[in-house]
Amino acid sequence: MANQEITRRVHKLREEIRFNDHRYYVMDAPVIPDAEYDKLFRELQALEAQHPDLVTPDSPTQRVGGKVLDGFAPVRHAVAMLSIRTETDISDGGAIAFDARVRKELGLKDSDAPVEYACELKFDGLAINLRYERGVLVQAATRGDGETGEDVTQNVRHAIHQIPLSFEESYPSVVEVRGEVYMTRPDFECYNERQREHGLPTLVNPRNGAAGSIRQLDPALAARRPLSFFAYGLGEVQGDWKPETHKEILDQLDAWGFPVNGERRLKYGAQELVEFHRRIAAKRDSLPFDIDGVVYKVNSLALQAQLGFVSREPRWAVAHKFPAEEQITVVRDIDIQVGRTGKLTPVAKLEPVFVGGTTVSNATLHNEDETRRKDVRIGDTVIVRRAGDVIPEVVGVVLEKRPAEVGAPFDLFKLLHGHCPVCGSAIVREEGGANWRCTGGLFCPAQRRQVLLHFAGRRALDIEGLGDKLVEQLVDQQLVHTPADIYKLDLATLANLDRMGEKSAQNLLAAIAHSRQTTLARFIYALGIRNVGEATAKDLARHFGKLKNLLRADEGQLQQVADVGPVVAQSIVAFFAEQHNVDVIQALLDSGVAPRESEGEPEQYLPLAGKTFVLTGTLGIAREEAKEKLEVLGAKVAGSVSKKTNYVVAGAEAGSKLDKARELGVAVLDEQQFLALLESI
Ligand code: IVH
Repeated sequence: MANQEITRRVHKLREEIRFNDHRYYVMDAPVIPDAEYDKLFRELQALEAQHPDLVTPDSPTQRVGGKVLDGFAPVRHAVAMLSIRTETDISDGGAIAFDARVRKELGLKDSDAPVEYACELKFDGLAINLRYERGVLVQAATRGDGETGEDVTQNVRHAIHQIPLSFEESYPSVVEVRGEVYMTRPDFECYNERQREHGLPTLVNPRNGAAGSIRQLDPALAARRPLSFFAYGLGEVQGDWKPETHKEILDQLDAWGFPVNGERRLKYGAQELVEFHRRIAAKRDSLPFDIDGVVYKVNSLALQAQLGFVSREPRWAVAHKFPAEEQITVVRDIDIQVGRTGKLTPVAKLEPVFVGGTTVSNATLHNEDETRRKDVRIGDTVIVRRAGDVIPEVVGVVLEKRPAEVGAPFDLFKLLHGHCPVCGSAIVREEGGANWRCTGGLFCPAQRRQVLLHFAGRRALDIEGLGDKLVEQLVDQQLVHTPADIYKLDLATLANLDRMGEKSAQNLLAAIAHSRQTTLARFIYALGIRNVGEATAKDLARHFGKLKNLLRADEGQLQQVADVGPVVAQSIVAFFAEQHNVDVIQALLDSGVAPRESEGEPEQYLPLAGKTFVLTGTLGIAREEAKEKLEVLGAKVAGSVSKKTNYVVAGAEAGSKLDKARELGVAVLDEQQFLALLESI
């Protein structure tokens, strides 16, 4: 090739690689296969190797390689990196107080129009400043003390593919993009999984993962911990770009190819801020990354300038937090709980601590291996996590705080002297698994209690009022042995129990009677078959249509059901092979429990069989209700949009899932169209 041609080819390759990087890393929607991409990349590498003079710092090839550093050079920020005031009132008061302060500072009267705010998520990672000169990334620096940070350019190049090395079009001569570097939950889990496989130390949480990775001196190691980035503002800008609002800034960054989170909205006045805060709080646990609150910013840059700063914090922005999902506390003791299938779970008894919105005094340690891996001991200071409805767990030990008189390393067999703490039966360690089990079966009162609680649970037969304390009495007084016995209870027996009066006994009987009408899926789930969770129960019900078909199925037939593999199939067959279990099922049916079966039509004949729906945004009917309606008709309801999605039902305030649907060309229904569809079937 002639020199000119080579230069042109190099440019063309870079352009294509950049385009594909953006599709892959930022939009999560690649348009060419990996092999195709690798080919482009290798061709560019080869051309640059032959013509080193053509190598530029923003070439995609500069993301690989790099030398181990012996420290990070200090970087003085051209414009200080400030932090924002945190509203301490985590209830609605936080938004109301902020709006009131802004209005007062701006001298607004009650009769004046509401202030326009740009609302966004508060990402839980670390702040970074990216300096671009003539559109090329020249430096990345951490926040440091706000005045001086550390030069982490190399690691940003290697570990954050979402950050453009350059951007095109008319750019100001200098622009500093600021935002948050973070690790997604799936990347965090995946990284830890790999570490565990190799017996290497794991990360305590994604935030520490991000901080550790960005400050890793060896760029090759940094690149192994994949990081992500969201832009949320600017530092120094030189040139003739004159945005007037914060929204305009973010839209422009988005257009330049920077990842900007889609969950950003303009809101007017305090009430709308409150609504934004609530809506995001409800969504928090379904996001693939951690957030610790939302941020409100006055949208107009002129008004921002007017409001100015007080003690290094802008008056025009505030962080309105959510309750923290992680806290530090002390392990007082370690107990062993016996589960429904005899599984023995170590549980840390904690110094009570307020986390994730409630006071927590127990947190699961999962199993013996996990407890040993984290080396949790009595007396240790630990990090406890409680996210949404998930049961609280101990995520790690703060070793610096380990007292001299700490307990011994955890040893479950030794602790229990080889016997179930409830029924005294022998305990065994599962072959190939991490769990110890009590061999007592339903002889063990603890297992019986768990079986009953599971059966009556909200997602199973949903018997309201049949909780912990009551089940304990029913089992201890030998009033109930199997779930079928629940239907034999009478008013006199119930009214005589501790903390039960006539009225609550009547209510409970009504709930028990009501539970007889249920779905086949709930019934299957309620049986508590090992390895059969709610989703599998639904799949089984859909596939077999009738209980008797399921009872008759062999392992091969069971494996025809999507997502049922050999392990699950074997558990199901083993469950129905036990005469005891079949007897309980018969007794349940005899006592009038009537799971709704489809009329002889296995799933393939249902009207929406094979169709996948995704529900997003706020719908007029409850999400659960919409889901059940669809499932009864044979449809599957998924949590995220992919090419396999047939319909996305978008309610009010639908966000990124709707965007994704449009991008992938998936059919979108609004609520009316959705209801019309259900009507028409
Ligand atoms: S704006 C002058 N927006 O929260 C305003 N910060 O103290 C500068 N953060 O460490 C910050 N998400 O890294 C802003 N959407 C967001 C943010 C955000 C997270 C972090 C930021 C800083 C802290 C604020």
